[in-house]
Amino acid sequence: MYTGKARAYTNIALIKYWGKKDEHLIIPMNSSLSLTLDAFYTETSVQFDENLTEDLFVLDGQKQDTKQTTKISKFLDLVRKEQNLALFAKVDSQNYVPTAAGLASSASGLAALAGACNEALDLQLTEIELSRLARRGSGSACRSIFGGFAEWQKGDSDQTSFAQGIPSDHWEDELAMLFVLVDDGVKDVSSRDGMKRTVESSSFYSGWLETVEADLATAKQAIAEKDFNKLGEVTEANGLRMHGTTLAAVPPFTYWSPESLKVMQLVRSARQQGLPCYFTMDAGPNVKILVEKKNLSTLKNHLATHFSKKQLIEAYAGPKIALIPLER
Ligand code: PMV
Repeated sequence: MYTGKARAYTNIALIKYWGKKDEHLIIPMNSSLSLTLDAFYTETSVQFDENLTEDLFVLDGQKQDTKQTTKISKFLDLVRKEQNLALFAKVDSQNYVPTAAGLASSASGLAALAGACNEALDLQLTEIELSRLARRGSGSACRSIFGGFAEWQKGDSDQTSFAQGIPSDHWEDELAMLFVLVDDGVKDVSSRDGMKRTVESSSFYSGWLETVEADLATAKQAIAEKDFNKLGEVTEANGLRMHGTTLAAVPPFTYWSPESLKVMQLVRSARQQGLPCYFTMDAGPNVKILVEKKNLSTLKNHLATHFSKKQLIEAYAGPKIALIPLER
């Protein structure tokens, strides 16, 4: 029996990953940049066990159905194939996400699973190798191996597509991200389906590809210069461009809800009043606002008449993946 456990934190992209060049290996069309956050994380243990007759996946104490378990099995198969291992495994995962947050946790979940496998089978992977492995589970997971800012260099093969930490002189410790949870019962299009449809059919997708690498360079420069407005402006512009591509997909779709637009408007009005803050969104209607720590409470007050305390969740820069010792 081989066991291991790891904790990984989620990350939010400031420069988005949007589109795959290789669906199977999960090689992205563009490089991306993220901030790992402390508020949401996943702890996962894996146990490869000769007594098991199939893979088992337990999430938040609930045994998962065949569909969910198959996703995990596919990831385990990569590791089993590489290691010539013929054992089934039990994967036990706990998501630490504030209740009813409705936030996807594939980044922290798959990064934690990769870390747990590394530990269980004593693979002794470097951070880059671990990032490559996590990438195969879910693209954005490759960035959750690192704390603070991370850049996923798109590469063009399994070997060359991985994330790395970005030196920042701890500037991220001065930043915060406010999650505004807007649950409008909007029908979900998964990030996987959304990016596939966009790459295949959106006439705006070429515009995305034309601008994203320059956005990435601007974001890296802003981090090097500790220039909050520069980083915020490029974050907001890049997110808007990503979401713009979905409107020209066939059939078209959007992740925005009326409530998302309300948050965007409030962010703009906060800026007009002299409060620097910038929004970004992913494959769902919730809005994340990048703000300096020193301005967080003013921002919360600005939003307080429109959203309840429960809808506003603050997060700060989070650490890299960690092993969790198991009692053996
Ligand atoms: O890794 P996935 O399949 O969950 O895709 C993430 C896509 C976005 O969240 C929209 C952007 C990103 O870079 O995280």
